[in-house]
Amino acid sequence: MSSLRLLEHAPLVARNTLRVPATAPLLAQVRDRAALEELLGHAGMRGGPLLVLGEGSNLLLAGDPQGLVVQLDLRGIDVLHEGDDGALVRAEAGVGWNDFVHWTLGRRLEGLENLALIPGHVGAAPVQNIGAYGTEVGEFVATVEAFDRSSGQLCRLDHAACGFAYRDSVFKREPERWIVVAVEFRLPRHHTLRTDYAGIGEELAAMGIDRPRAAHVAEAVIRLRTRKLPDPAQIGNAGSFFKNPQVDAALAAALRVQYPQLPVYPAADPAQRKLSAAWMIEACGWKGHREGDAGISAQHSLVLVNHGHATGAQLLELARRVAASVRDRFGVAIEPEPRIIGATW
Ligand code: EPU
Repeated sequence: MSSLRLLEHAPLVARNTLRVPATAPLLAQVRDRAALEELLGHAGMRGGPLLVLGEGSNLLLAGDPQGLVVQLDLRGIDVLHEGDDGALVRAEAGVGWNDFVHWTLGRRLEGLENLALIPGHVGAAPVQNIGAYGTEVGEFVATVEAFDRSSGQLCRLDHAACGFAYRDSVFKREPERWIVVAVEFRLPRHHTLRTDYAGIGEELAAMGIDRPRAAHVAEAVIRLRTRKLPDPAQIGNAGSFFKNPQVDAALAAALRVQYPQLPVYPAADPAQRKLSAAWMIEACGWKGHREGDAGISAQHSLVLVNHGHATGAQLLELARRVAASVRDRFGVAIEPEPRIIGATW
C-alpha cells in the first residue's frame, strides 16, 4: 500500500518556523518511494503553483499558497562509496539537516562541521546553498536528484548543473520547476578545517581545544549559533531574513570612508564586495524593534521574529520598511533570503 497522504485545507502554522498562520488547499505527504511515484503522476505535478515544504525554516507565508504543497518525508541515508580518503553519501530530502551533519561526523567524514545546527531538511540545503562560518554546502554536493516538472522526469544534476552561488542555485531560481528528492555529498576523510571565521577560534580557545578536529568545530559552531541566533523552537523566525548585499568594490570603498566600522567581505566576483546587512540594519536602529508581534531580533538584526501572533503580511510589511531605511541611508538594496509566498518582495 502506498503511503501518499492528501490533506485538504491543511493548516500550516505548525509547519513554518516563523509560526505564521496559513492554509494549504491541498497538502501531499510522501512517505516512501511508491508514494513519490504516485505523487509524480498527480495532476498538480504537471503544472500550476507548487510549494515544496521541508521544515518551513526558509519561508514567509504572506498569504495562503495556491495549488499543491508537497512534503517529502523520505529519510534514507546510504553510503554509495567509501574509501580511505572519503565517501559518497546519499541522503533523502526529508532527513533533518543537523541530524545528517552529526551522522557524517559520527562516520568520521568531514566537511559539513561548520554547517551544524542550521535548521531545515537535507532537500532544502542545495536550494538556497546553505552557508555559515565560511562554508557553503554546494562545495560538498556531488549530485542532486530532483523531479523536473517541465519534462516530467526525475533528473540527476551534477555539481556544475546546480548553479550554486551565494544563497542561490538553479532550484531557487525556478522554485516551481524542481522538487529535490535526494542529495549526494562527496565528503573527505580529512580536510583543512575552517576556523578562521570570526568567533570560531575564540570559541575553540574557550573550550580549551588547541588541536581541533571536525567534531570540535561543529561544537564551537553550535555554541556560537545558540548564543547569537534566536532558536525557532522558542521564538518564530526563519534565520537570516536578509542576504548580505553584493555591491561594486568602488561603492564598498566609498561606504567604508563614510562608515569605517561597516564590515566588508570578499565576494565570489573579485570586482564585488559583500556588505554586512546586519550592521546596516542595526545602524538604522532596528535591532530589537517590535511592532505588535512582528519584530527584529534583539540577538541578531538579520533575523525577523514573530513574538506570537504576527501574520505573514505584517512581518513582510516590517521587513519592507527595514529594507527601505537601509536603502535611504546607505543607498544599498537588501533582499530577502526566504521564499515569500502570497506576495512579491
Ligand atoms: N552584526 C551587527 N549586528 C548584529 C549582528 C551582526 O552589526 O546584530 C555585524 C557584526 O559586525 C558581525 C557581522 O555583522 O561581526 C557578521 O555577523 P555574523 O557573523 O552573524 O554573520 P552575518 O553575515 O550577519 C551570515 C549568514 C548567517 C550565518 C552567519 C555566520 C547570511 C545572510 N547570513 O550572517 O546565516 O549563520 O553569517 O556564518 O549570509 C542564515 O542564512 O539563515 C544564517 C543565519
